[in-house]
Amino acid sequence: MGINFQNVDFKYAKKASKKQLDNINLSIDAQNEFIFIVGHTGSGKSTLVQHMNALLFPTSGKIKIFDLNVVRKKKTPLKPIRKHVGLVFQFPEYQVFETTVLDDIMFGPKNFGQTKEQARSQALEAAKLIGISDDLLERSPFTLSGGQMRKVAIAGILAVNPDILILDEPTVGLDPKTKDELMQLLVDIQQKTNKTIIMISHDMNIVSAFAKRILVMHQGKLVFDGHKDDLFASHELLDLYNLDLPTSASLAIQLKKAGLINYDKLPLTKEELLELILKEGSYE
Ligand SMILES: Nc1ncnc2c1ncn2[C@@H]1O[C@H](COP(=O)(O)OP(=O)(O)OP(=O)(O)O)[C@@H](O)[C@H]1O
Ligand SMILES: [Mg+2]
Repeated sequence: MGINFQNVDFKYAKKASKKQLDNINLSIDAQNEFIFIVGHTGSGKSTLVQHMNALLFPTSGKIKIFDLNVVRKKKTPLKPIRKHVGLVFQFPEYQVFETTVLDDIMFGPKNFGQTKEQARSQALEAAKLIGISDDLLERSPFTLSGGQMRKVAIAGILAVNPDILILDEPTVGLDPKTKDELMQLLVDIQQKTNKTIIMISHDMNIVSAFAKRILVMHQGKLVFDGHKDDLFASHELLDLYNLDLPTSASLAIQLKKAGLINYDKLPLTKEELLELILKEGSYE
């Protein structure tokens, strides 16, 4: 059970000839995956994930979220779908609006019919999971830093306890330390809960460090769905879809050209690169 797309097309303007989603076929399990969606700006990543949460509806083709059909707005059971799949928008801090941080996080579960007490307990649990300290809970969300506000917005979705959590570029604009912290928290949440997390990112250092499965969007088409090693090993694919290599990989290529290191498999993370350098050093 999870998300299933069959031959999905989508156009924002019904009469336009260009499709923003073009024949998407995709299957995502609700358990234990950490999937990244990458692709050039305007390639259709945000449009794709908005279909997974019934914010947008296919022009043609079939989408099933668990056993529910995403058809047209009036015919689609929105709440049950959004209970299964939670979507955190890019710059979610703009959606923070309640008087206190705790009230803001409680909004989701209350909206899904939980009592105030249940909503409070789920909100407290979500705040803890995402690392919001207790002293922030009674503050106005508008007095928080950008990074803290973003955590509040993520906690609001987590509090609903969706099976699949989707985040649209959650690390954009954060400083490197906050970015690392947020990524670590998301990885911990994924491992603790066995939920599936789907994340859109332009940051290939993050993608290469945390992904196994990567989806590549290009001009509305899903052009790659596979393991990160296969994507980053292919210069043709990276060139074709305008994707960068992670820093460790481009450094490794230069070091290899200079005859300083050698490898069979391109290192994709800092740790893998360091291991290679240390191995070379040990020959001397
Ligand atoms: N509300 C809208 N109305 C009309 N066209 C839109 C709308 N939103 C997006 N588009 C168009 O659809 C295409 C895909 O946009 P989308 O936002 O899904 O791209 P993206 O891959 O998320 O890009 P980015 O990396 O910049 O966030 C683009 O050509 C965009 O201009
Ligand atoms: Mg986008």
